[in-house]
Amino acid sequence: MCEHAFKRHRRLRASNNMRALVRETQLSKDDLIYPIFVVEGSTVKNEVSSMPGVFQVSLDYLTEEMKELVRLGIRSVILFGVPQEKDEVGSQAYESTGIVQQALRQLKHEVPELTLIADTCLCEYTSHGHCGVIHDNDVENDASLDLLVQTAISQAEAGADIIAPSNMMDGFVKAIRTGLDEAGFINIPIMSYAVKYASAFYGPFRDAAGSTPQFGDRKTYQMDPANRREALREANSDVEEGADFLIVKPALSYLDIVREVKDQFNVPVVAYNVSGEYAMVKAAAANGWIDEKQLVLEKLTSMKRAGADIIITYFAKDVAQWLNE
Ligand code: PBG
Repeated sequence: MCEHAFKRHRRLRASNNMRALVRETQLSKDDLIYPIFVVEGSTVKNEVSSMPGVFQVSLDYLTEEMKELVRLGIRSVILFGVPQEKDEVGSQAYESTGIVQQALRQLKHEVPELTLIADTCLCEYTSHGHCGVIHDNDVENDASLDLLVQTAISQAEAGADIIAPSNMMDGFVKAIRTGLDEAGFINIPIMSYAVKYASAFYGPFRDAAGSTPQFGDRKTYQMDPANRREALREANSDVEEGADFLIVKPALSYLDIVREVKDQFNVPVVAYNVSGEYAMVKAAAANGWIDEKQLVLEKLTSMKRAGADIIITYFAKDVAQWLNE
């Protein structure tokens, strides 16, 4: 008889209990980092038009927002600043009175149970919107590093628990590690945006942070989406320079890269589920074209299955709510 001619895979899918028993990947609130946009001024809570459910908030609303996050069970946030004044050299990124520095001091004091991650970049603070200083129409690497180091140190002084440099200058991890160590912050880890592509998926973020480049694009410093081996060179130099975490960004179209980085390096891997990935889901859900909850849980589970240990996502609050149900 042909009784054993084929395998019965459906045996392990027969019930909820059976599926739970054999499930290989779990999504947990502990894995999630929530991005927040802190804006100068008072009584501001502006919804970002391309990101329904995401707000720019001023300091007087920030503590309440963050307490809600903690109530839901999310314990890590990454902060982005939206300053009132911008200049050529992005000085509001590293002033001790910068908006992110103020937010860090406030949250360290008022919501001490949160892990505070500072995005360390200049593009939200420069008048031209690039991630460093401009010379001959290009971003000058080494001069930008000095400002990035100053930014990291002032964020650590203000209470950042993790420094997350995102400007993609060569040598940024080494420069920041040296700077932090010399300033006495030997125990502050670096979560490097090691593998960051020049991606069209960042559009809505640039609305939220007001950081669209005023000329040109970011292709001389962010990576070409066509490249995989280059991602490993980037990750490798960051690990050698002292990165404690590696971020791959964006997430969804780059899950092959997440897997590759996970297999080749022994540090925690972070997938950044970026603004465009969020906006697309929200737009489709608003039209009734997809089931938002099922889709978001599926996407984030796929990121973990691909190898992400941690996910930065604007959906963190929703996911926490769903997991609490
Ligand atoms: C800063 C930075 C960006 C994002 C995170 N940090 C913007 C960019 O590189 O243009 C994008 C995040 C998102 O799209 O959600 N350099």
